[in-house]
Amino acid sequence: MTVRIAIIGAGTMGRGIAQVSAISGFSTTLFDVDPEALEAAREAIAVSVEKGISRGKTPEEARDRITGLLSFHHDLAGAVAGSNWVIEAVPESVGLKREILQRAEEGAAAGAVLASNTSSLSITAIGEALDDPSRMIGMHFFNPVPVMGLVEVVPGEQTSDQVIDRAVELARGFGKEPIVVKDTPGFATSRLGVVLGLEAIRMLEDGVAGAEEIDKAMELGYRHPMGPLRLTDLVGLDVRLAIAEHLHQELGERFRPPQLLRDLVAAGHTGRKAGQGFYRW
Ligand code: CAA
Repeated sequence: MTVRIAIIGAGTMGRGIAQVSAISGFSTTLFDVDPEALEAAREAIAVSVEKGISRGKTPEEARDRITGLLSFHHDLAGAVAGSNWVIEAVPESVGLKREILQRAEEGAAAGAVLASNTSSLSITAIGEALDDPSRMIGMHFFNPVPVMGLVEVVPGEQTSDQVIDRAVELARGFGKEPIVVKDTPGFATSRLGVVLGLEAIRMLEDGVAGAEEIDKAMELGYRHPMGPLRLTDLVGLDVRLAIAEHLHQELGERFRPPQLLRDLVAAGHTGRKAGQGFYRW
């Protein structure tokens, strides 16, 4: 069976997943309502592929695979038609994810798996909107997708065993290492990663040290590849805030978003993509 994969949402994560999917040899469509986001994705993917080739991490054939296997769509029905995989990477809202996946379920091939790249939301809750929630699963990728080795596979309460096996197999097909994690808020990654990020912001508020020093503390003292504030800039302060709000609601006070995070997001300083976060980019 030819594997056809539709990626919904051409933001940082969606375009990264689409790049890896096509380079891995799968016929891939990338959908976004916004034509400018699609154009930006096309350009970013081309740059990333060249970087991967120049670093010797991506095979030369990747250029042809991107040209031959990846197509860009601003019509959802066209993007999902005939797909046996749909992976959504739209903003962190259960309502939005439900709506998108419901529409994708109508247009995708019979038996298609419907996956969400959510970093923290309940897969069971998202899947409730589907006619067949046994086909719904979480597949959580990490930024930058072409570089990061992990995919968190998160079955909801209704997900079938066969769908779990297919998700594990697809993650391996993408060259990633899958881990299967229980459907709990923030799974195994965001629940831990966000704690560190939020505490680093509180330390900045408390004047413990500057952003550079706090990041250096973790980079040189703990060998993290990137300090927690720089990482928050990479992920997006708005994305981190949405995750923290959800975890605060579900898991309690330790995830309360710091006021500084709220203020920076309100000012539009959402990190690298905006040119300003904890750092100027
Ligand atoms: N394609 C393939 N490989 C590439 C590549 C590309 N486009 N660009 C770079 N690489 C490879 C490089 O060859 C290099 O490989 P080696 O280490 O084997 O030499 C590696 O990726 C690192 O690349 P760079 O040298 O260019 O960059 P760097 O060393 O400054 O690292 C980084 C950059 C990978 C982002 C690193 O700082 C890092 O790992 N940071 C932490 C990232 C992280 O934690 N991400 C998760 C965020 S949370 C999330 O995404 C989930 C969520 O729910 C929000």
